[in-house]
Amino acid sequence: MMMLKRRCISQLFFMAGVVLGFLAMFNFFHIIFTCTAEKHSVPLSWKKAESRPKLHHLNGSELQDNDHLSKDLSRKVRVLCWIMTAPDNLDTKTIHVKYTWTQHCNIALFMNFVTNESFPTIGLGTKQRRDPIYWKTIRAFQYIHKHYYEKADWFFKADDDTYVVVENLRWMLSNYTPDQPVYFSRRFKPFVKQGYMSGGAGYVLSKEALNRFVEGFQKENCTHTTSTEDLALGQCMEKMGVIAGDSRDTEQRETFHPFTPDYHITRRFDKSFWYWNYAYYPIVEGPQCCSDLAISFHYVEPELMHTLEYFTYHLRPYGYQYRYQPPLPENAKRLPAHDD
Ligand SMILES: *[C@@H]1O[C@H](CO)[C@@H](O)[C@H](O)[C@H]1NC(C)=O
Ligand SMILES: *[C@@H]1O[C@H](CO)[C@@H](O)[C@H](O)[C@H]1NC(C)=O
Ligand SMILES: *[C@@H]1O[C@H](CO)[C@@H](O)[C@H](O)[C@H]1NC(C)=O
Repeated sequence: MMMLKRRCISQLFFMAGVVLGFLAMFNFFHIIFTCTAEKHSVPLSWKKAESRPKLHHLNGSELQDNDHLSKDLSRKVRVLCWIMTAPDNLDTKTIHVKYTWTQHCNIALFMNFVTNESFPTIGLGTKQRRDPIYWKTIRAFQYIHKHYYEKADWFFKADDDTYVVVENLRWMLSNYTPDQPVYFSRRFKPFVKQGYMSGGAGYVLSKEALNRFVEGFQKENCTHTTSTEDLALGQCMEKMGVIAGDSRDTEQRETFHPFTPDYHITRRFDKSFWYWNYAYYPIVEGPQCCSDLAISFHYVEPELMHTLEYFTYHLRPYGYQYRYQPPLPENAKRLPAHDD
């Protein structure tokens, strides 16, 4: 009896060892498998422009806009868009800006250090790519003032990772006239008395604001005060009497957004995040973050740019009435229409 029992016990230990060994092996392979699987399901390289797979169906805006209201507005509120880009970005990022939202601008110009006639880009003749970004902005606005002054009423600057709904920009601007010294974007609070307009979400200058900005450098009222481009611009604007406008909609929702839509809609910003100290108006988290007539978002990767183009111009809930469709401002009726 005792022998048998002992044999049973050792057999039991043996079997337990086999089972544990198997479990350990299983765990081992399980860990290996899930780790590699995770690595493959979230490819870190996705975000890197150089290893991005080629994107197809470039012409996001190919379909003709048949909305008479927005067509009429585009003849009254003429927007020249200019995009600051870099030579290495043309085929990976800028091309997607060219074939999405900029198709809705009255004029779209791509500014670069060097001229590229096939894209095309306008070379600003700044000495090298390390030149402070603010000098490129100054050169770009001088160029536009010289060559396009009569061809547009408003002058919008964006980066090659900004997404813009140009029709909504026109609606906001139709409350003003181009001869008012005013400029708009997401308004930030610090450093400048009236606040300044953050650059990432793009900013727009009235014709008069463009005049004063260019004059400010001609007469040396403005200087290159800081390498932070949007802040330097804001300081010059205040000095030249250009007003930092309120770009929020009639329900006080923001229209220019410094981050991507998902960031604004789903994130809770950490209390120590710089954003809280910079925002001029109270920050709203969640779906009320953003106007139904939102104008722009920043940090938009090419894939998202095409997705937003689809959401903005194509996706519709069948039979659904627009929740927010404020009338055209009274001012819009008095604006002259241009046929060119
Ligand atoms: C986009 O569409 C325009 C007009 O239909 C066409 O001329 C152009 O070649 C297209 N571009 C691309 C990249 O498909
Ligand atoms: C000019 O632009 C095209 C894209 O349109 C690009 O493929 C080419 O590399 C650019 N040339 C230079 C010298 O950057
Ligand atoms: C700009 O400078 C000129 C000449 O120095 C001066 O006459 C003018 O008042 C200045 N304008 C502003 C807005 O400071």
